[in-house]
Amino acid sequence: MKNATKPASIDKPHIIVVGGTSGLGLALALHHQALGWQVSVVGHSTAKIDRLNSQHPNIITYCCDLTDNAQTQSLLESLSNISFQRVIYSAGSYTNERVHHLSQADSDQMLAINLQAFEQVFRWASEQLKHQSCALDINENSSLSLICIASIAGTMDYPYASLYAKSKRAMIATASAYRAALAPYYIQVNCIASGYIDTQALRDLNNDDASHKPFIIKTQTAVEKIMQAIDKDIELAIFPRSMRCITRAINHLPKPLLNWILRSKLDKTT
Ligand SMILES: NC(=O)c1ccc[n+]([C@@H]2O[C@H](COP(=O)([O-])OP(=O)(O)OC[C@H]3O[C@@H](n4cnc5c(N)ncnc54)[C@H](OP(=O)(O)O)[C@@H]3O)[C@@H](O)[C@H]2O)c1
Repeated sequence: MKNATKPASIDKPHIIVVGGTSGLGLALALHHQALGWQVSVVGHSTAKIDRLNSQHPNIITYCCDLTDNAQTQSLLESLSNISFQRVIYSAGSYTNERVHHLSQADSDQMLAINLQAFEQVFRWASEQLKHQSCALDINENSSLSLICIASIAGTMDYPYASLYAKSKRAMIATASAYRAALAPYYIQVNCIASGYIDTQALRDLNNDDASHKPFIIKTQTAVEKIMQAIDKDIELAIFPRSMRCITRAINHLPKPLLNWILRSKLDKTT
């Protein structure tokens, strides 16, 4: 399961990026590495892990299918033996759910990755960080942090939401509860609700070109916004600003009107 040849350095802060083998998670992993962190990433695709091992040999890789509860549990048990200061949950599954009918397989996968494995990882990570907080006599000047990557789709409260939007909305609410619960331990919890990010996964869903997506931002811009949100300890970081304004306005519309607009806009036959 693990690329075991690379021991974690004990003198550097250590981050685990779950879903760190591609896209936004990988960009965040590389950013932390450039800042001097020891980085561990978790992903499922062996091709991505092999590429990472050859291109970034100092990053520790773990192969795990997060849709498999037992596999995830055994990964978390093995990670319990190491000390870390930050976990980012960036694993995610999304499809063109509005354009194509959601299959049973896509539905299972989306629920498992976006919600169930997220809860499993956050529960485990919060316990691990709490132990560290007590053992190390952590105070408000120390930094232990738990971050999750939700989506701006989860910030909208509307009746015709997709499974993706609903699971990200649940993620936002869960992160908020963890933030309150972990405050006495001086563990910071931040949730990221971004609009479209120009990652390969998004391009793959759009014939290799996602430039038509409204207010799409570069992955590096998203990394900068996320690092700012962590540095400023923002509970829920929503960006880009243009999308934030639109979603805020949408949340003030009467629900029946919003439902009608979204139905007519999102229900496409092609
Ligand atoms: N791109 C956007 O427009 C956008 C906007 C808002 C929010 N987000 C969120 O940002 C996060 C990253 O998205 P991205 O665009 O960077 O996509 P991505 O490149 O596909 O990244 C997803 C990560 O999750 C991992 N993952 C997926 N299924 C897994 C499984 N069964 N077991 C283990 N790992 C699994 C992937 O690894 P493997 O491929 O190896 O399984 C990969 O490392 C997601 O949570 C997404 O919802 C994206």
